[in-house]
Amino acid sequence: MNKNMFIKDIISNFQDNDLSIDERKSLIFYEFYKYLINENKKYNLTTIVDPRDVIKKHFLDSVLPLVEIQKKIKNFNYDNYENIIDFGCGAGFPLMPYLIYLIDQRSKLNFNYIFTDSNKKKIAFISKFISNNNFLNNFDILCVQSRLENLYNKNFKRQNTLVIGRAITNFNQLIKYIFEFIKLNSISELSFVYLVGPNFIKPNMDLLKSYFGTKYEIYYDSYHYEYDSKAIKRGIFYLKVKKSL
Ligand SMILES: C[S@@+](CC[C@H](N)C(=O)[O-])C[C@H]1O[C@@H](n2cnc3c(N)ncnc32)[C@H](O)[C@@H]1O
Repeated sequence: MNKNMFIKDIISNFQDNDLSIDERKSLIFYEFYKYLINENKKYNLTTIVDPRDVIKKHFLDSVLPLVEIQKKIKNFNYDNYENIIDFGCGAGFPLMPYLIYLIDQRSKLNFNYIFTDSNKKKIAFISKFISNNNFLNNFDILCVQSRLENLYNKNFKRQNTLVIGRAITNFNQLIKYIFEFIKLNSISELSFVYLVGPNFIKPNMDLLKSYFGTKYEIYYDSYHYEYDSKAIKRGIFYLKVKKSL
């Protein structure tokens, strides 16, 4: 697929899902796609390489739920957070496509975005993309190679952190470490968003409740998005702090 076809495809599929995208943004997505595919030849970043699959399964699949969640939660505002942590981000999903999507929304620039993964090459991959792309200069971004189990002991715990993640195989073993970040939140909005596809391991609701049950409301919801006029089903888990806190 050449550059023009890629741009046409991403614009039409984003627009079909009511996501705003212009040529500048679609070009940055194209740059990220090219970089992903080239680096993927040298070391393993993703098994999804077909351009249309990258648009659908990585780009749309990352951006849409983070936009969608704003509709599900009344009074939700990303501006209230100090940190957004994408744990086990792999090659940057879901946070990198979301940052690209946000480039024209300047009000969302006042907190830290943290990419973290235990894999050194994946973190180096994201770091290099950030340092080579001026459009990301406006964002405060940290790329941290660490297991999530160790990250909370480092200097990343702040009040009001939103933890996001997608497709982490050992998710259920990490719940208690996720809790270390979000228990400091003082806002009664969203604390945590976790994205799953049909073949992913689902969070264990009993385990989630055993950590979060008394203070948080836990939701699992599914939603659909369109790709080439087909409906694709995705799952989304999220936590809200109970108002009584
Ligand atoms: C299946 S990949 C998903 C990557 C990305 N979130 C996505 O949706 O494409 C899972 C990622 O989680 C990372 N990971 C697994 N356990 C982790 C842990 N305990 N701490 C940090 N990263 C972890 C792996 O290195 C891998 O990159």
